[in-house]
Amino acid sequence: MPFSKELFADIKKEFTVDSEQLHEIAADFRYDLRMGLKDPDLSSLRMLKSYVGLPTGKETGEYLALDFGGTNLRVLRIKLMGQGKFEILKKVAKPLKVEGVYDYIGAESTAEEMFDFIAALVDEAIDGDHEKKYLLGHTFSFPSEQSNLYDAKLIIWTKEFATPGVEGKVVNDLLKEALHRQGIDNVEPTAVINDTVAVLLAAAYKQPDTYIGSIYATGHNTCYLEPYAESADAPMIINMESGGFMKLIPNRFDKEFDAASEKPGEQRLEKMVSGRYMGELFGMALAELLGEKGKAYGFTSIDMSAIISEADKVAEIVKAKTGHDLTADDCAKVQELAGALVIRSARLVTATFVGIIWQLAGSDKVQKQHIAIDGSVYEKMPLAKENIMRALSELLGEDAAAIDTVLENGGSGLGAAIAAAMSQN
Ligand code: BGC
Repeated sequence: MPFSKELFADIKKEFTVDSEQLHEIAADFRYDLRMGLKDPDLSSLRMLKSYVGLPTGKETGEYLALDFGGTNLRVLRIKLMGQGKFEILKKVAKPLKVEGVYDYIGAESTAEEMFDFIAALVDEAIDGDHEKKYLLGHTFSFPSEQSNLYDAKLIIWTKEFATPGVEGKVVNDLLKEALHRQGIDNVEPTAVINDTVAVLLAAAYKQPDTYIGSIYATGHNTCYLEPYAESADAPMIINMESGGFMKLIPNRFDKEFDAASEKPGEQRLEKMVSGRYMGELFGMALAELLGEKGKAYGFTSIDMSAIISEADKVAEIVKAKTGHDLTADDCAKVQELAGALVIRSARLVTATFVGIIWQLAGSDKVQKQHIAIDGSVYEKMPLAKENIMRALSELLGEDAAAIDTVLENGGSGLGAAIAAAMSQN
């Protein structure tokens, strides 16, 4: 049975954000930003202080960087040479979960096991040397409440992580204890930053005029340098936890997906835009078109990327996941559907960037600046970048020329090393 035309049109509409909505979302985001600065209880943005500003670019020395934010855990030894230059001396990586072998992120694991696993990877990065002193910068990519650069308490897991015993704890204390258990007392964790903050630090280390850092990957979030204009406070990077932005109208797929997720009611924006969720939303919509509402086929954002970019593979990919044979016409519709989800995602993310840009500009002209972005969706998903640019123009008009987006690849590691260097000030 070919897809119903009406149903397809209806589903596509569900995933469309028109120009008027786009403007409203950007304005609402700016409003929540301002309210959140005054009192986070009045806003859907957590607006978490990072206790770090921008680097001078002159930071030097050898540091350890721990990048903990997705299933792939990384530890790097990085030498900062100043002037935006650095060298990666060693890099080790391991997944926190290998299907059927081990799983440190599921509800069955424990905090101690998780951090012991991390400490063992740190040991690998320093080649088992328990003498030489290292400062460690920790990019921890989950919402955390900080009272200084070291002290970050996990508020709530996101990205479907479920390890008990970490929420509410100071993550660097858990790390320190695990390092100690393994006799690694020469490594001193001194800084914790969110991955968005790491991206901003890494980009600003290399190039001035960068005030916004974002992750557009498995998860999504943005930070910016809050100037605290006309106040005595020094400029500080604020981790907005923009993935939690709520002033969006979820469609029926968003609602159904949210209800079945690890944390219903949380992370509305993130669930509508990030790589972890897009494939599943796409699969839910496709199930309706195939007359199998409610069936989960396990599509990922990587499948979506292939569907969008390789027209001749669509039939094969859909057949492998759903068992259905599609007509050429329906294959084109599947491609259009995947595109619609990506375009919605890029437009929503851009609206949040513009909310920040408006706030930073105030009544002045938009300043020339770069937005630093890292993440697989931004880097690899077809249609993402071009739709960010398009939405920037739609929202900013001529001022869009002042903004460019730059890929800050690997910013999580470099940013953590920079934060460790800055922790000595
Ligand atoms: C987390 C953020 C993080 C983002 C990108 C979200 O789920 O809440 O802290 O920055 O993912 O990794």
